[in-house]
Amino acid sequence: MTSWAAIVLAAGKGTRMKSRLPKVLHCIGGKEMVRHVIDALGQASIQRVVVVVGHESALVRDALGDALEYAEQAPQLGTGHAAQQARPILEGRADQVLVINGDVPLITSQTLDKMVRRHLESGAVITLLTTVPSDPAGLGRIVRDGNGEVVGIMEEKEAAPSEKALCEVNSGVYCFGATWLWPNLERLRRSGSGELYLTDLIGLAARSGQKVEGVVVQDADEVMGINNRVHLAAAEGVVQQRTREKLMLEGVTLVDPASAFIDATARIAPDTVILPNTMISGETSIGGDCEIGPNSVIRDSRIGRHCRITASVIEEATLENEVEVGPFSHIRAGSYLATGVHVGNFGETKQSRLGRNTRMGHFSYIGDAEIGDEVNIGAGTITCNYDGVTKHRTVVGDHAFIGSDSMLVAPVRIGERAVTGAGSVVNKDVPADKLAVGVPARIRAKRPRQDTY
Ligand code: UD1
Ligand code: CA
Repeated sequence: MTSWAAIVLAAGKGTRMKSRLPKVLHCIGGKEMVRHVIDALGQASIQRVVVVVGHESALVRDALGDALEYAEQAPQLGTGHAAQQARPILEGRADQVLVINGDVPLITSQTLDKMVRRHLESGAVITLLTTVPSDPAGLGRIVRDGNGEVVGIMEEKEAAPSEKALCEVNSGVYCFGATWLWPNLERLRRSGSGELYLTDLIGLAARSGQKVEGVVVQDADEVMGINNRVHLAAAEGVVQQRTREKLMLEGVTLVDPASAFIDATARIAPDTVILPNTMISGETSIGGDCEIGPNSVIRDSRIGRHCRITASVIEEATLENEVEVGPFSHIRAGSYLATGVHVGNFGETKQSRLGRNTRMGHFSYIGDAEIGDEVNIGAGTITCNYDGVTKHRTVVGDHAFIGSDSMLVAPVRIGERAVTGAGSVVNKDVPADKLAVGVPARIRAKRPRQDTY
């Protein structure tokens, strides 16, 4: 069995991004560029991955976590110099080494698999992915001899006009035989720009009579390198389209695919309908038979089956089944809406649980609260949870009826089946089955007819 390892080059600053964030941490489809590359390697069964970090390396390590190995490159003297930094970790520990730029996020595991197979079959010391993009500007050009064999890569900075006219380019993805790679990496010499180019290895191999194999990728998008924000937006478009097609083929209806922006990290079950202008991002899961949108934003949330979310924003929240939200509501972090909850228009919830079948139809704020089952929250109800210093909790028992415009001044408890009158300011606990009315609210016996609410 051949053993494989990969080196991901991610030490560069990415000057052309004009960003404080290292280039490889810019997200595409909700996932860092370099994470796309690492995931594709994992799917191609290359488990041992060394990431070469340098510029803002702590940030990159933090984002990628401890499951990977890292090599530091400082200063950053080019892609060849970057690959050299992995030598102490990998030499003698892998037969074949795949080197990949951290800025080719659209690469698929199928293409990597194909390349790896070709590399082993052909016995080449180097196999590289090439492509013919519509615009080769800025990329390394592939030089082939009269027999069509790859004999070198000419970086654009060094290329003569005749070489610039070549339209086949280097994708920044290579397989190397390890015993050839390690000593030859040390033979690289600085280019005119002062950098050590990894791509100079191709000429070195060819000149010493070694076989170099070029594998042409038909879909140039897949090996597109991201150097600036125009490329970033183009890659986002590709990832979005892939996600949309995958979801549609899995049984999700996207009424207007072009206006549904869905992160690759989101999961959506069949027979859910996504209406126009909807964003679903982060670690979100949505069950089947839901209707989401139009004009909704859902981030890092868990949503069950048969839910309807219309023109609303849901963030870091959990909705069980058959929950309705909107139009125009904001379900914020830590909200938990149990099965059958209805939040109508202009409602806001935060760090609160609403029990089964509780209804909150109009203009309410519920924060830091525990609301029971089958509670009616009248229009304009507010949990006054903040006294200027601390947040306090509100607890409302099952079957309580909160009258319109009630102010629940926390900390406060409303008992089961209790009622608050319209416009009451409740600053003391209301026992079960009692009525609270007035400003400040006074406790009374409940009039019998109110039991029918
Ligand atoms: C590189 C290739 C070019 C190819 C193109 C494909 C070289 C010399 N050129 O050019 O032939 O067509 O990719 O997209 O390799 N990096 C480091 N350390 C460094 C410099 C770069 O880790 O010192 C990393 C970067 O973080 C990046 C990757 O290497 O992820 C590629 O670097 P970049 O500067 O984008 O190379 P290109 O100019 O695009
Ligand atoms: Ca690049």
